[in-house]
Amino acid sequence: MQLRIDYTHLLATELGLEQGLAEEALAALQPLVSAAHRRIEADGTGGRHKKFGFIDLPETMAAELPRLRAHAAELREAADDHVILGIGGSYLGARMLFESLCHRYHNSLPREQRGGPRIWFEGNGVDNDSLSDLFDVLEQRAVTAHVVSKSGGTLETAVAYRLLRQFHGRRLRLRRVVLTTGADSLLERFFLAHGGRPADAYHLPENVGGRYSVFTTVGLLPAAVMGLDPERLLDGARLMRTWCASDDVRRNPAYLYAALQFLSCRAGRHISVMAVWDKALEAFGLWYDQLCAESLGKLEAASRTPLTAVCTRELHSRGQQHQQGPLDKVICNLVTDRPRRAPIALTPEPGEPNDGYTFLEGKTVPELNEAAFLGTDAAYAQARRPGLTFHLDALNEEMIGALVHLFELATVMEGMLMGVNPLDQPGVEDYKRFLNALLGRPGREKQLAEYNAWHAGREARVESWG
Ligand code: PA5
Repeated sequence: MQLRIDYTHLLATELGLEQGLAEEALAALQPLVSAAHRRIEADGTGGRHKKFGFIDLPETMAAELPRLRAHAAELREAADDHVILGIGGSYLGARMLFESLCHRYHNSLPREQRGGPRIWFEGNGVDNDSLSDLFDVLEQRAVTAHVVSKSGGTLETAVAYRLLRQFHGRRLRLRRVVLTTGADSLLERFFLAHGGRPADAYHLPENVGGRYSVFTTVGLLPAAVMGLDPERLLDGARLMRTWCASDDVRRNPAYLYAALQFLSCRAGRHISVMAVWDKALEAFGLWYDQLCAESLGKLEAASRTPLTAVCTRELHSRGQQHQQGPLDKVICNLVTDRPRRAPIALTPEPGEPNDGYTFLEGKTVPELNEAAFLGTDAAYAQARRPGLTFHLDALNEEMIGALVHLFELATVMEGMLMGVNPLDQPGVEDYKRFLNALLGRPGREKQLAEYNAWHAGREARVESWG
């Protein structure tokens, strides 16, 4: 496995002092990075991390793999449709693994080619039509489900689980439900009370937060059900951990990335775009958006907004703004050097009418993608638009395992540099207190009164037509 991070186009040597970062700024950050590194190390004194439990998952989960594999094999046999219910960190990791590593049209393939069930995601919203449409698809089919909620108290997940149970026997046959949750959650009690088998319940480690939990059963069980190899994911994470052992900001890929983003944000680049040059990585970008936004979005003036752009698709939309819009962005490209499938070459028939593209004859689709990347990168650099590029030698389980560890550790480092806690998400609670109050949850009467008073006091301005 090989990873290269090219940050030439972030530096003042390339972009000039006004738009670029001075190398000295990176060097000046080294003492802070070293201090943060020592705090991360100190958290792990005694062999296991107290707060940053995600760092230990390659070891702690290795012991769980036999059970998890056996379980996945049963689920792969039990039904042709597997629904994963969860939201936020209990959803995006599994979706990222599915989209990054499985056949792009997995659910449309015949069973022999899929090898396992079709994979669906729900419980990631309260969207009536999305749920209804999924129930149409699952009509009269045998279904298995994996319910994921660390707190066991998330409304979106609970509602989707209830609906699956409600339609069992009428619209679908729920063959088996597996649960991943925190120890002794209300959800687990509900699950057991409704016939869930204790052996089908997994407990999440206390010291691994939702968005850092891909390499627990939250992501590894879905991965195995999808036919991916969880061990190779952990191998990748383990290898990345060795690459991230140094406190030297230039030698440690996670710290280098964190430092570059931290300095860029301080220099006014408040938007960081993860530009993925492989459609399969779109969900990786969304997974990272959540990791970054929920971990670091805590300072009004100094938290960057992460966004995902799929190239070349977005070059025909947001590309205009990247090239000429406000100078408030850093573009971080993820480029895969080798496609998973054999390169498709353009081989026009002799005598075909000329559509203006005969010069492409003999070229392959990866060559076109590479030219598009090089051209875009040059155009941004010439316009003094900062960017950096991750070159991935291939897209496979090891690489995804490595990137997950890299970005999780980078998020912790960046949080420490910013002076925020990268593990909590107090802002996410605010919508929940009103949501629950509006739905009449017992004990939320005060919040309901607060909401009603606020609502009545507004001077609403609404126009309507039709
Ligand atoms: O990262 C986080 O902690 C959150 O995004 C949670 O994963 C998300 O809110 C879902 O929570 P839970 O797993 O408790 O249902």
